[in-house]
Amino acid sequence: MKIIFLGKPLSGKGTQASLLSKKIRTPHISTGELLRKEVQKKSKLGRCIATLIAAGKLIPDKDMFALLEKCLPKKQFILDGFPRDIRQAKNLAKLTNIDLVIDVVCSDKTILKRAQARISCENCGHIYGLNFKPKEKERCDNCNGRLIHRTDDSSATVRKRLEIYKRKTKLLTAFYKKQKIYFSVQGEKTVPSVQIKILNKIES
Ligand code: AP5
Ligand code: MG
Repeated sequence: MKIIFLGKPLSGKGTQASLLSKKIRTPHISTGELLRKEVQKKSKLGRCIATLIAAGKLIPDKDMFALLEKCLPKKQFILDGFPRDIRQAKNLAKLTNIDLVIDVVCSDKTILKRAQARISCENCGHIYGLNFKPKEKERCDNCNGRLIHRTDDSSATVRKRLEIYKRKTKLLTAFYKKQKIYFSVQGEKTVPSVQIKILNKIES
């Protein structure tokens, strides 16, 4: 299947996409992770991306597409964080078809709370949070990588990201509803209960 995860920042897209990827054995492509890997390379492009991410702004389409096209599988994928606006969705449609769009819905209040608690592994990207603490304080359970707070999780930057979501990404709801491939799930329930709803939808 070719699946897209939509949702506000910190709604739980990455958490659910990663679980689903293991469950249905489908590659998970997170555009945020792709960009953060580029930042780690400390290339010229990486430095520009770092500044934009820390400011909560979107990366220009030309750069985003160049990175995505290199790693988007042909047959099946779970795409998390892409598209971010109608233009990206239209360009993606030129590349491939999409079977299902899963929108993880969450309130701003919950999102701002989650931002304070999230830490993730700078090596494998594994996500921890309020209810998901690592066994060791600063080390990833999976790969022993260093756990970090993302540069874009300050409350000022999260508010900026929410503003961009509302102005641009939210329009994708109507875009995909029209195509009859849209499914929304309440992201404030527990992680396992959100996962069950998603799996039930996929099985149906
Ligand atoms: P990206 O990394 O994609 O960030 P995002 O979309 O803002 O989403 P997040 O990764 O912050 O949150 P998430 O929904 O994955 O939540 P998570 O599962 O971690 O993009 C970062 C930046 O890169 C963008 O701002 C932009 O600059 C750039 N970018 C990316 N894609 C781009 C594109 N296509 N075009 C241009 N620029 C692009 O969960 C959050 C926390 O909540 C965790 O701590 C988790 O443990 C916890 N949690 C999750 N689910 C639950 C639950 N059900 N109950 C309780 N806690 C939960
Ligand atoms: Mg994510």
